[in-house]
Amino acid sequence: MQKYSKIISTGSYLPEKILTNKDLEKMVDTSHEWIIERTGIESRHIANENESSVDMAYSASVNAIKNANIDSNVIDMIIVATTTPERKFPSTAVLLQNKLKNNKAFAFDLNAACTGFIYALDVADTYIKNGIANYVLVVGTEKITSLLDWSDRNTCVLFGDGAGVAILGSSNTPGIISNTIGSDGSYKDLLTVNTDSEVIEMSGNDVFKIAVNTMGKLAAETLEKNSMTIDSLNWLIPHQANSRIINAVARKINLPQEKIIMTVNKHGNTSAASIPLALDYANSNNLIKENDIIMFEAFGAGFTWGSTLLKY
Ligand code: COA
Repeated sequence: MQKYSKIISTGSYLPEKILTNKDLEKMVDTSHEWIIERTGIESRHIANENESSVDMAYSASVNAIKNANIDSNVIDMIIVATTTPERKFPSTAVLLQNKLKNNKAFAFDLNAACTGFIYALDVADTYIKNGIANYVLVVGTEKITSLLDWSDRNTCVLFGDGAGVAILGSSNTPGIISNTIGSDGSYKDLLTVNTDSEVIEMSGNDVFKIAVNTMGKLAAETLEKNSMTIDSLNWLIPHQANSRIINAVARKINLPQEKIIMTVNKHGNTSAASIPLALDYANSNNLIKENDIIMFEAFGAGFTWGSTLLKY
């Protein structure tokens, strides 16, 4: 019998400290009005000095494991999507495995910048479909504010920290219907953290335009590839970088606002953590129902992009 992977639970963690646009007004030459108008962001969570991407991943994972009502030792694969690992090695995933006292899984990190969670879902889905794994902990965790130049108003207003988790289980019915991932390294310098500066550098305007075009095209292609129309979609859970990008993509594919999960206003751009954070938000607020058709979609540095179409 053909195997599918299904999301059996979600979890998330957001640091306690909240940084508002008003707080940012005291740090750089900006205003609450400018940030809201250009990005839709009102506030973001900031991890404290002693809080790492592993700590956040751990809290979100404990939450998801509890929601799944499983023992952590049934998890046989752990993938952590992150660009802000606690250590260069061992991987964030191995450090997380240790904290979870899991001795069954194999664990590794994956870096596809803001598209990391979609890439990780694709890998998890492939392992489950091939019968290699049965329960996969898929994590997006970022202490992305550790990569910010707090004097650069072009970037410091955009990002926030957090972690989100989805546990995938093997199932006889879908589940994940299709995954599409892609990348183009010729755009490497438009959004980057160079090893000499260690801070985010971005050509905001270029990123904006390419993100809208790529995500609009990808959403349409994902539906077409699966012989679905926009009406079959219950929810779009996009990467939460900027509400203007999300709304422009929605207009391109004629998707009504009510079908979009939007958390960027309270989270900012949490990179690889943004989709699982938005998913857990939707899940814990009972917005998603069984059998809903959902599309995840992301775009990030590289450039990288990807979509996942699934039945909940
Ligand atoms: N507060 C006030 N003014 C700011 C500002 C801030 N935080 N950041 C930039 N500005 C200024 C610029 O200096 C520029 O001033 P100038 O005209 O005097 O030079 C002006 O605002 C317009 O800058 P521009 O970059 O053209 O604005 P924009 O409309 O493109 O908005 C972004 C800037 C960053 C919000 C927008 O380009 C964007 O969202 N890009 C995508 C970023 C992203 O999502 N990256 C992650 C992808 S995963």
